[in-house]
Amino acid sequence: MPAPAAAIEAPKLRRENLLDGIVGNEHISTAQRSSYDDVAVMYHQLWADWYLPAAMPALERLFFSQVKPGARVLDLCCGSGHVTKELVRRGYRVTGVDNSAALIELAARELPDADLRVSDARELPFDGEFEAALSTFDSLNHILELDGLRRAIAGAFRALRCGGLFVFDMNLEEAYTADLHQWSVDLRENSAGLVRGHFDMVTKRASTELVWFVRESGTDCWRRKRSTVEQQCYPLGAILSALEDAGFRQIESIPAYEAGVKSELGFGRMYFRARRLC
Ligand SMILES: C[S@@+](CC[C@H](N)C(=O)[O-])C[C@H]1O[C@@H](n2cnc3c(N)ncnc32)[C@H](O)[C@@H]1O
Repeated sequence: MPAPAAAIEAPKLRRENLLDGIVGNEHISTAQRSSYDDVAVMYHQLWADWYLPAAMPALERLFFSQVKPGARVLDLCCGSGHVTKELVRRGYRVTGVDNSAALIELAARELPDADLRVSDARELPFDGEFEAALSTFDSLNHILELDGLRRAIAGAFRALRCGGLFVFDMNLEEAYTADLHQWSVDLRENSAGLVRGHFDMVTKRASTELVWFVRESGTDCWRRKRSTVEQQCYPLGAILSALEDAGFRQIESIPAYEAGVKSELGFGRMYFRARRLC
């Protein structure tokens, strides 16, 4: 996220059955709740599919071509597993980490054999286990304080073996300048999704408001789910410093358009690639 308007026009609803059974995530305790939990299915069905096809040229060039099949890969903030699934398909041994229990639950339905964990990116427990780490779809913008972002990047560094590659993308300020104030609406037979965004130019905090109505299976009763997902916009220099201070070297920042992302997804997005050399 963000760019909800574009995202919401594109999706193909492939997993309609997921509307049943998982619309209530009340079993997740309040202390552990993520802003994605209540809208996990909406995210999974309406948004997540948008990223991978558009980002593929960049991922091919920056990541897949550099990491051999069979390598152990950390998918940091893996969400409902759209990119995780592609990593598994390509023969990587993947561990996916995300702090939304509902999204991990959706990922586990599709990847029952994968190592998927509910965990905060700022508290990564790994030590030299991975040949590569990937964090896609501006996931690290969801960490709202610079200290947290720095801890996540340092955790990714610790998780890598010597020579390990870290690739991720983040939104820079340009990405938040699109006018997202109007509700964009996605109407379907059994669901209606509404999304709008806001960016505070002073605090550099972006928020995406999501409302989702879902018809209960076999009835005319509609349930409403809503959530606000926040992101923080960081200056390029702060991200590069966090990488360098964590110990990463061969640090590159590549605008998404230059990396081959031609659609709106590329607008204001920056890919980062760095190595742990030890
Ligand atoms: C836009 S989604 C991207 C998901 C996935 N990488 C993809 O490409 O489909 C952002 C993800 O970051 C996760 N996230 C946000 N803050 C997090 C944190 N502190 N620790 C772990 N995951 C986090 C959210 O739960 C969500 O799954």
